[in-house]
Amino acid sequence: MEEREMGELQQALTKAEVLTEALPWINKMRGKTIVVKYGGSAMEDEQLMTQVVGDIELLKLMGMRVVLVHGGGKAISAMLKQLNLPVKFKDGLRVTDDATMEAVQEVLIGKVNQKLVWSLNEYGHNAVGISGADGKTLKAAPISPELGRVGHIREVSPELIETILDDDYIPVIASVACGPDGFFNVNADEAAAAVAEALHADKLIYLTDVDGLLADVNDKESLIRSLTKTETREILDSGELDGGMVPKIRSILEAMDRGVSEVVILNGKAPHSLLLEIFTDAGVGTLFTQD
Ligand SMILES: Nc1ncnc2c1ncn2[C@@H]1O[C@H](COP(=O)(O)OP(=O)(O)OP(=O)(O)O)[C@@H](O)[C@H]1O
Ligand SMILES: [Mg+2]
Repeated sequence: MEEREMGELQQALTKAEVLTEALPWINKMRGKTIVVKYGGSAMEDEQLMTQVVGDIELLKLMGMRVVLVHGGGKAISAMLKQLNLPVKFKDGLRVTDDATMEAVQEVLIGKVNQKLVWSLNEYGHNAVGISGADGKTLKAAPISPELGRVGHIREVSPELIETILDDDYIPVIASVACGPDGFFNVNADEAAAAVAEALHADKLIYLTDVDGLLADVNDKESLIRSLTKTETREILDSGELDGGMVPKIRSILEAMDRGVSEVVILNGKAPHSLLLEIFTDAGVGTLFTQD
């Protein structure tokens, strides 16, 4: 056999091995509900975004009920700068006055959501974009006067999401909620956790721009591979986390407290991290499990 043919055969065998390894996972995950929170920070690169969308399509084709919840932090900050509005955070949450809220809606619902819907549709599996205000899916209560239109999720009505799933579309949810007097900005991590809980999801996955929870945020090699709920709470209480990791870890704990059994943080910028997590024995990122 020629060397080139040997190479091709080896490649084909490797593919066959990959499929064999994936088979039990495909069987296990069929019909399962997976909530994927796609962080704005991992959405910067068009090519990577196309890859993530492709992975989501594959999960759908394998018979999983996939729900996408997205943020858009970086895009919102860029828009605020363009509008000469201040970009301010407190404990990882964006201080949101009325003008900021309008920009949040414009970016999250008008741009990011529709871009994801468009990309999923292009791949062939039709998606439906909603915000948490549609069908009063997400209801929020203000957190504090200092934060303005930032809300905690008070209640989730999953009926609209379930209808979309039952009709075989992929729901894509922008993290905007309805509050007492209009729209509220809710942290997308918290929104994803609340949606996962309401849908009794089997798995909640956070796609972000780092490999997972790092023991030392400045050291990429310090990835924590797995944590129990108690260990996670200890890390949150230690006060060592900052930035967007604070609401993320807090929402992971809330999701686990309310019955979501498995949560993972993955790097949405690493090629096919979603597929590796779901279909291989090793898994990637940080896995959070019940005690
Ligand atoms: N211990 C830590 N391990 C990993 N990341 C950390 C840690 N502490 C702080 N971070 C920061 O958290 C960031 C991820 O949260 P961030 O809110 O920026 O992204 P996201 O939630 O994926 O996106 P979005 O908020 O737009 O939805 C990382 O880029 C990192 O800078
Ligand atoms: Mg965030």
